[in-house]
Amino acid sequence: MGFLEGRRPRRLRQSAWVRALVRETTVSPADLIWPLFIEDGTNARSAIATLPGVERLTIDLAVEAARAAAAEGIPALALFPNTPDDKRSETAEEAYNPDNLMCRALAAIKSAVPEIGLIADTALDEYSSDGQDGLVRDGVVLNDETVEVMVRSALVQARAGADVIAPSDMMDGRVGAIRRGLDADGLATTMIMSYAAKYASCFYGPFREAVGSGRRLRGDKRTYQLDFANRAEALREVEADIEEGADMVMVKPGLAYLDIVRDVAEAFELPVFAYQVSGEYAMIAFAAEGGALDRQAAIMETLMAFRRAGCAGILTYFALEAAQALNA
Ligand code: PBG
Repeated sequence: MGFLEGRRPRRLRQSAWVRALVRETTVSPADLIWPLFIEDGTNARSAIATLPGVERLTIDLAVEAARAAAAEGIPALALFPNTPDDKRSETAEEAYNPDNLMCRALAAIKSAVPEIGLIADTALDEYSSDGQDGLVRDGVVLNDETVEVMVRSALVQARAGADVIAPSDMMDGRVGAIRRGLDADGLATTMIMSYAAKYASCFYGPFREAVGSGRRLRGDKRTYQLDFANRAEALREVEADIEEGADMVMVKPGLAYLDIVRDVAEAFELPVFAYQVSGEYAMIAFAAEGGALDRQAAIMETLMAFRRAGCAGILTYFALEAAQALNA
């Protein structure tokens, strides 16, 4: 026995088969949720400059995308509408128009690809004229008035075919209000995945271009989204959402917040998800375009990191590409 006293951890890394045998974490297409941006029209797609490789799709093309995702074993899509300018307003009425772009997309995908789960983002920034996630009065983002509109929005989404309502706004009390609204409307089986620990982050920049809210937004979202200096506060938010009836919770952004994912996974016995948000996608996509990173290697390494931290699943714009690579 030499100076190592018999401890040679490299033994377990010497070949691919033994590394496979001792691997602690897995990633599979079943862990992935694919966010899709929907726009009005037919048979059209539009590029998003800050998200190279991601496009807004008209509903018919989103149906095709849903088919492709289902074929690769992706269990669910998360839909985000780019509401036409003339339908946005200070009061965000379009959010509860049963015939809005989101509801039409939900219904079309549900009828064409019934086996894929549909997660509807519920927030007012996609319908309001000022890009905030809530109604604004005298420069203040209102809480309870916003929650009332969100409940109405969640109801039209669930009736149109959403399996999961995903409130992404961070207003107080919205999960409980949506749960009561769904139950009272005979929608007791509709699930809620709350954006429970959502931080005020610069990493949402490209998303705001994709849904057309960024150029409208003045100021920031720090009166409702979490301060990224805080950890205990995130756990209080998650606990509140669970008490109010959330079935699943989400941490967002993802990679820079894996400590929070780990905390939540350890503290609560329900599935935790993370959102690898638009700015995270952009970092990898642009770095790969510039030759600084191997795109596919970076995708797989980051997805594994989410799983290792304790995620049941990951919302990621890489979902289809990753699933194709995993199935290859
Ligand atoms: C809107 C919403 C945002 C994201 C998901 N839902 C943006 C925001 O809060 O400003 C971000 C997703 C991403 O960046 O990929 N409520």
